[in-house]
Amino acid sequence: MRRKLIVGNWKMNGSIASNQLLLQGIVAGVKNLPHADYVLCVPYPYFHQAQTLLQHSNVAWGAQNLSANEDTALTGSVSPSMLVDYGCTYVIVGHSERRILSHETDDTAAARFNAALKAGLTPIFCMGESKEERESDWTEYIVGRQLDSIIRRFGANLLSKAVLAYEPLWAVGTDTPATPAQAQEVHQFIRKRIARCDAEVAAQVRILYGGSLHPNNAKAIFAMPDIDGGLVGRCSLDAQAFVKICQSIQ
Ligand code: 13P
Repeated sequence: MRRKLIVGNWKMNGSIASNQLLLQGIVAGVKNLPHADYVLCVPYPYFHQAQTLLQHSNVAWGAQNLSANEDTALTGSVSPSMLVDYGCTYVIVGHSERRILSHETDDTAAARFNAALKAGLTPIFCMGESKEERESDWTEYIVGRQLDSIIRRFGANLLSKAVLAYEPLWAVGTDTPATPAQAQEVHQFIRKRIARCDAEVAAQVRILYGGSLHPNNAKAIFAMPDIDGGLVGRCSLDAQAFVKICQSIQ
């Protein structure tokens, strides 16, 4: 039985003052919800604040990206061991916003994935197709290629140490979530593709759905057999909404 996981991705939002209330609200709201794991992926400058406010709670914290390198001349980058220094346990890798806006490729995402694992972090590896790709019936080709970029390099076995996220680009930051059936179809495809290489890993790996998750749609989406939780953007910036999404699992 896979334990559900809800991850908040704050993206480039927050301030010291507003984070305080948000973190306290989420901690209070999920403290009596023992049936799932919770993670907040915050911007780098707020690691210390997240660590201070979350360390005695049932909410873990993580990053939204990492360098694939350690201790080198890379101005502006943050290494895996720096994340570990701040008690981070998770890191998002290959988010569509980075693939599009920061020229992340399958190669660079795979290198980050590997670096995260080497540092003892759990990568949350994102995959998803654009609207045009879905309309051209390319969803399985695109998601399959992204998944294979990891399996081919490292083997399916390493996925047992990771979390996967299906985030269709047309649902991220829009008001058009995938329907539970649309999301389930792709999650099942991902699981079956892993099972071709390793049935045990396929049965155990957690696959999250992300893209316009909301208190109104979370319950139906999380009820799907291959959906193990969510990667939540906007609603993770509102303690009440995020907690309601978490409650929909109980
Ligand atoms: P929204 O929940 O705002 O659509 O964002 C989803 C996402 O990109 C999470 O990583």
